[in-house]
This record gives sequence, structure tokens and C-alpha cells, in this order.
Amino acid sequence: MEIHRFEKLWLGASLLLIVALIATIVYGAVGPGVAMVDDSGGTVDPSDLTASDNFREPGVYEADDGGYDVYVRAYQFAFEPGSNSPIRVPADTEVTFYVTSGDVTHGFNLAGTNVNTMVIPGQVAEITVTFDEPGTHYIVCNEYCGAAHHTMRGTVEVVPRDQFDQQSSEVNN
Ligand code: CUA
Repeated sequence: MEIHRFEKLWLGASLLLIVALIATIVYGAVGPGVAMVDDSGGTVDPSDLTASDNFREPGVYEADDGGYDVYVRAYQFAFEPGSNSPIRVPADTEVTFYVTSGDVTHGFNLAGTNVNTMVIPGQVAEITVTFDEPGTHYIVCNEYCGAAHHTMRGTVEVVPRDQFDQQSSEVNN
């Protein structure tokens, strides 16, 4: 069977397009580090978050592996910590956020980063991130959660690692 030269060209070009399309989808799915939030964070009793050791005193805790764990309680209409006092974490360090809610569904989005999850009552959302640079990120609730939803926000302050170590040793001494 004789295939015309231009037919071959078109065939090749369309095959290339298909390969390029699949490549962009694969890159978009795994390349920029975007992942689905799964149920690895576990659950807590939404009617009494203080029944859970981790959420009795939400805050920033040093983890065994040298990283930091941040426990955050979301409620109508604030993040604790985050809204009344900023969450301070070090740069260049693995930080894992555990976020839960005791009332309604909220959102936890760090503006300017790919940290973004739904916060479901009783369900602990777990997100691990390493901030490359010091700076301030706003926490935004991006799920409609009631009349003052638009006021629900907080702050994460990423400070240089040495500065953070210094501050935590000052607190401890
Ligand atoms: Cu919380 Cu919107």
C-alpha cells in the first residue's frame, strides 16, 4: 500500500501531539508536587477536639525526625493558632500541618503555595511542605462556612532556620 508523503507527515505530527499531551498530563499530575490529601491524618472526635492529645493544645511542635508538626484547629471563624497569633515555622525544614475542625467544613489554603485542603469536622487533614524561603503566607479559608467566612484568615510566618532555632532556645531557657 502506498502512503503519500504528506499523509505520513500528518500521521507523525498527530502521534507527536498525542505523546506531548500525555507528557503534559503526567507532568501536571506528579511534576510540581501536587498530590491529593488522603485520610492518613486519621480522625478525632469533632464534638470534643480536646479529647485528642494533639489538638488539646494546638501549636507548633518539634517532630522526632527534625521537622516540625503543626496542629491547627479551624472553627467559625478563625484558625488556632494562626488567626490571633501567627504560626511560626522555619524555612528549609519539613513542616507537617494537621488541621481539623469541630464545627463545619472549612478550607486551609496557604496563599502563594500549593498547600490547600478541605478541613472536614473530625477528619484530620495532613499536609507536608518545605518552605524554601522565609516570608509570610496568609491562611485563607476557601470553603464557605457561615456568615463571617470572608473574615476567616490567619498567618504563617516562615523564618530563617537559624533565627528560628535561636528563638526556640530563648523560649526554652
Ligand atoms: Cu471557615 Cu470559610
